[in-house]
Amino acid sequence: LSSYPSYIDLLPSIQTCNITNLPENYFLKYYLYHALTWPQLSFVAVVRPKGGYSSKGAKAGDVSGHYPKVAGYVLAKMEEEPTDGMQHGHITSLSVMRTHRRLGIAERLMRMSQRAMAESHRANYVSLHVRVSNVAALHLYRDTLRFEVEKVESKYYADGEDAYAMRLNLESMW
Ligand code: ACO
Repeated sequence: LSSYPSYIDLLPSIQTCNITNLPENYFLKYYLYHALTWPQLSFVAVVRPKGGYSSKGAKAGDVSGHYPKVAGYVLAKMEEEPTDGMQHGHITSLSVMRTHRRLGIAERLMRMSQRAMAESHRANYVSLHVRVSNVAALHLYRDTLRFEVEKVESKYYADGEDAYAMRLNLESMW
């Protein structure tokens, strides 16, 4: 359908989801840069509007009933200048709306991005940072997805909180 929104159409809603769920926020052009540079790596989970995507009956400029709602997203990239010389992916941001948590959405988004990093870019591993106090995300990364803590980065966040730098080897997915 011509009215079916593309990933790029959804970037403002993805940005809103990020602002709602996390204090680390980015300019819209940074989302666009990810989408244009590594189109395989980022994913969005949406709630389809009732009645599908037909624009029939919609007033000009009214997209509320016709665009899907964003339930969650993963924003991911390849490291452009890896200091260790190893081709690897990086999770810039992941979040799921409160109304849609504990349904397996984040796990699915992460696994899709990890697979694309391995298959499209032959990434050796994927890295990310997470607040040391973020219990839910730590469970997801460490217990569900099997990431390992590489090191603690002191005062990584703007408010002074430390981050765990985590990584997961992807070579078995090549
Ligand atoms: N407490 C403990 N474990 C949790 C919790 C929780 N509240 N939420 C998820 N998990 C773990 C569990 O191990 C779970 O497996 P299980 O349900 O089989 O026990 C596993 O994560 C997978 O859960 P999902 O349903 O896939 O996770 P969800 O879709 O709810 O999203 C997320 C998890 C992304 C952490 C969500 O809580 C969120 O958006 N939080 C706020 C934003 C955030 O912290 N994002 C991560 C920042 S780090 C970064 O962006 C790189």
